[in-house]
Amino acid sequence: MKTNLSSAAPSQLETDCLVVITLDKGEKDKPAPSVESADNAVREAAKDVIVSGEVTAKPFEATLLHHPAGLKAKRLLLLGGGKAKNFSTAELRKLAGAAVRTLKAKNIRSFAFVAGVGGNSFDAVRAIVEGAFVGDFDPGYYKSDRKDKDGDQKIDAITLVVEGDTKPLESALQDGRIIAESQNFTRDLVNEPSNLMTPTILADRAKKMASEVGLACETYGADKIKALKMGAFWGVAQGSDEPPALIVLRYDPVGAVDKVHLGLVGKGVTFDTGGISIKPADGMEKMKYDMAGAATMIGTMRAIALLKPKVKVTAVICATENMPSGKAQKPGDVQIAMSGKSIEIINTDAEGRLILADGLSYARELGCTHLVDAATLTGAVVVALGYVNAGIFASTDEMYERFAKATQEAGEKMWRLPLDDEYKENLKSNIADMVNAGSRWGGAIFAAMFLKEFAEDTPWIHLDIAGTAWMEDNKPWIAKGPSGIALRSLVEFVKGWSA
Ligand code: BES
Ligand code: MN
Ligand code: ZN
Repeated sequence: MKTNLSSAAPSQLETDCLVVITLDKGEKDKPAPSVESADNAVREAAKDVIVSGEVTAKPFEATLLHHPAGLKAKRLLLLGGGKAKNFSTAELRKLAGAAVRTLKAKNIRSFAFVAGVGGNSFDAVRAIVEGAFVGDFDPGYYKSDRKDKDGDQKIDAITLVVEGDTKPLESALQDGRIIAESQNFTRDLVNEPSNLMTPTILADRAKKMASEVGLACETYGADKIKALKMGAFWGVAQGSDEPPALIVLRYDPVGAVDKVHLGLVGKGVTFDTGGISIKPADGMEKMKYDMAGAATMIGTMRAIALLKPKVKVTAVICATENMPSGKAQKPGDVQIAMSGKSIEIINTDAEGRLILADGLSYARELGCTHLVDAATLTGAVVVALGYVNAGIFASTDEMYERFAKATQEAGEKMWRLPLDDEYKENLKSNIADMVNAGSRWGGAIFAAMFLKEFAEDTPWIHLDIAGTAWMEDNKPWIAKGPSGIALRSLVEFVKGWSA
């Protein structure tokens, strides 16, 4: 998708479609839709349909007018943004996605979007570009009537109509593109089925991306995992014929801030059958997205390499399948993690925390001073927070504050869950230092408490994205399928440390 900026009057733009936001400026139940353009001719062109009462400006309401009087555009799309007083950059981002999805469905391949509401113009431009790219993603990769992944299904070009000088906004355009293309890169990895996204393929994709953007990347197999004594990771990987992969991506810029080395750890279970504690067949096909945490961290590294914040960042990705087989670990087995701690395996389906345990230890060994992990870790977080908020756990309030600020800037929803010492009781094992699974109550917290044992005293954030990494339904702004959640927040979080 080509993107460009224009400071022309919206009414003078020749385009297949001019998109303008409508906001409801009315009190309570009485809608008072207003057309958000300073250009009188645009408001005039929309006047009749506004006066008719057909337009209420409710969120994502789409009203398409042909041959709008007084405009050079072929069409005018009025896109509802909801209550004016609640409108922010987050809504603007979604509306840009909704514009893409609305127009694409009508075979319109290029349009102009009037920016001007929803934050300062830099943030607004960035958000519109982000939303447009995210909206352009279509998961139907293997439909035989589809020519290719990036082919004729995509929007060709979008023009952002801004007021005043466009020069200072060029970098907003650029940043938005980097972040959104990285988010779509992540979604691309997550969308692939497990037969086409094995740990080895994931490692190859990370390597290829790293060489394109100038990151250092090392990928290792079973030998290294065993040599590092990653008994928890290997315990999961041993059951699969598909070789596991340990992927390390390094970003180490000159002039980086002193004494900070961020570690991003991702759960890369390319398919989770549950292992010997096998999952029911119903819905198991979805477990191809159990590598979303890994894909998120790989995509985040891509964005970082291109945005170049002045802080050292290393990503550690543990990738494996979780399979039942004659070689698979069994309930009751005891594994010794890289840190030396012993784990009694109660449930082989609680595999994510096992591979992350060793991933966290390894990131610490590599010298990371602050850790963030992302994982589709528990069904319990979906019970707690549904599909709306990701779960966020933090070992310190300072880390939480930093991350919460980042989620705000990114327009992503996450909700903090507790890590009180009282929960530690549940980790007790008869035979080993801890069990890997307990009762069903507070399951997301149990998993986080387990991980905390391996983050040890390193400040740490855990993101449980089981409920948010996969959209269950089509939304006006985003297709059903992989969401790319957490990447934008992670990028903001990393930037927040920059020298
Ligand atoms: N990958 C699953 C978690 C999951 C569930 C992700 C639903 C996405 C949607 C994880 O490995 C798992 O199986 N967790 C178990 C843990 C239990 C056995 C303690 C769970 O949540 O049921
Ligand atoms: Mn599992
Ligand atoms: Zn899993």
